[in-house]
Order: sequence, then C-alpha cells, then structure tokens
Amino acid sequence: MKAKLEAIRAEALSAIKEADTQADIENLRVKYLGKKGELTAILKMMGSLSAEERPVMGQLVNEAKQELDNLIAEKKQVLQAAAAEEKLLSETIDITLPAKSAKPGNLHPLSIVTNDMIDIFRSMGFDVVDGPEVETDHYNFECLNVPADHPARDMQDTFYLGEEVLLRTQTSAAQIRTMETRKPPIRVICPGRVFRADEVDATHSPVFHQMEGLVVDKGVTMCDLKGVLEQFAREIYGPETKVKFRPSFFPFTEPSVEVDVTCSECGGKGCRVCKGSGWIEILGAGMVHPNVLRSCGIDPEVYSGFAFGIGLDRTTTTRHKISDIRLLFENDKRFLQQF
Ligand code: PHE
Repeated sequence: MKAKLEAIRAEALSAIKEADTQADIENLRVKYLGKKGELTAILKMMGSLSAEERPVMGQLVNEAKQELDNLIAEKKQVLQAAAAEEKLLSETIDITLPAKSAKPGNLHPLSIVTNDMIDIFRSMGFDVVDGPEVETDHYNFECLNVPADHPARDMQDTFYLGEEVLLRTQTSAAQIRTMETRKPPIRVICPGRVFRADEVDATHSPVFHQMEGLVVDKGVTMCDLKGVLEQFAREIYGPETKVKFRPSFFPFTEPSVEVDVTCSECGGKGCRVCKGSGWIEILGAGMVHPNVLRSCGIDPEVYSGFAFGIGLDRTTTTRHKISDIRLLFENDKRFLQQF
C-alpha cells in the first residue's frame, strides 16, 4: 500500500508540474483529491490494515494529501496570474487614438440672424434695449393708440394673465418704455419674443420673434425711414435686393407702410417660396403717430420719428431657405446642427 501511495504521489507531482492550463490543474485536483480520487480510494482501503499499521499509513496518506493540496493551490495561482497577464496583453488599448471629442454646440439660426441684424443696426448708431415679455395692456395697446374697442386688437389676440396683464403681442411696447425713460434723440432696437393666440402651421406660431426699431429726433422724415430700411435689407439679403414700400395701416404710425424685398429664393421671378409674386414681406413700419409721442410726453410739434417691426422668424426662414417655421421651435438637433 505504501508503494502504491508513493507511486500515486510521484505521478501526481509530475502531472502538476506539467499542467499548463487552469482546466488541467482542476482535472488533477479531481483525479487525486476528489471524492472518487485516487488518494481518497487509498484512504478507503485503510480498513484492511492492522491496528498498528493504520495510524502510520493514515499519517502518510494525509501528508501526501496535504502536499498535493498545497501544490495544486500554488499552481492554480500561478496559472491564474499567467492567464490574467495574457488577457491584459491581448486587450491592450491604443491610447494614442484620438478621443471622441464632445461636440461644441452652435448658435440657433434665430440667434445668428438676430445677432447679424443687431450688428447692422449698431453700425447705423442704434442702441439695443430690452423690454418685458409679460406686459400690461397699457404698454402693449393703450399707449400705442389701440384703445380697448379698437378693431386692430382682433389681429393681435393674446394670452392674458389677468385683466390688465398679458403676454406682449409686439415689441412695439418697447417704444413706449424707451420714450418714457430717454429723451430724444432716440435710436434704439429691441429684439425679443412675442406671443399671439395663433394656430400653429408652417408660417404661424403662437410664440415668435420681432425686432422693434425706433428713431425720434428733430426733423426725422419718411426719407430717413426708407434709407435705413433699404440699407438694412441690402445688408441682410444681399446688395442686389430690391425693396418695395406698400401703404398700410398701424394704429401707432401714420403714414404706415409694409416693406417687401425681392424673394431671395428666385430673385424676384416668382417661385413657391414667394407664392409666385417675386416679393416677400419682411416688416411693418411708419412715422410714429403724434398721439403716441404725446402719450410719452414728447411734443410732436418739435419732434418726429419712425418705427419699424421686423419679423425675426420670417427673416431667418427666408435667409436660410427654411420651409417651415416649426423647425425653429422643435429643437431637433439634426436640424439645428446645420447652422
Ligand atoms: N408692431 C407691428 C406688428 O407687430 C409692426 C410695426 C412696428 C409696425 C413698428 C409699425 C411700426 O405688426
């Protein structure tokens, strides 16, 4: 029995030495030390030994078991470490590859056009002023010569936050606030968000943007209005742009005009964008009504002025050939990234 144990031990030692995968070593553990393993089999045979031989043999088997156990555990560790090392080597990452960079954002097309327009008017000596989006009836309508029963209110229905408080329908309210706080000469623009109770479609949105302009000084005439707006149109749409002034009506200007420019899509020949007319309306304007000047404490016998209101959304869609105003408000990155 002793010889057999020695043979098993010798065989196991050399097998452990030669094992070179984790699976090999596990197989060896099962083969020698497992429940049905060879050493276990010898332990089971102990019953046939004499009482003197049993403890001697038992000790030998236990020593061999302990030895193999240790060797197997050691080898297991070595093989595990080697496997981990190999995995590391095979999975190296190339740290010299350029990293995926975070994409910088870009300005919204409306902001781009608004900034361009601010630059144009600044170069003509205008200041930029701001006005509140939540306005009072007083500033949005009353002072602009639109009393409560005026039919012009129908075109500018809005969202009321109370009897007297509303979301402004036009940046024109900023005209009044400016004239209340500044003395002529006045030359300001006021870009901002405005609101009307309109249904959403390709050309309408209940939230849109305007840029108001106001000039008040001694001796300001319709010629000044035409000169400033023609210059603006050529700078924003290109030098070949033609500008047309059509008589119109606004309660707060007299006379009033609407201004068209040659369609930037077809150059004036007529196309889908300009609905065949060759012209696109871009703004309303006029000479500030004497009642408006008076309501702000400015003497209309001494001063005169002109005002204009430009639709920023329309300017943006025509300039960038955008077919639907809704694209400006949906915030789809695929659209916005193009600018
Ligand atoms: N506020 C007018 C509108 O929204 C536009 C306008 C502004 C007209 C200033 C004349 C002068 O329709």
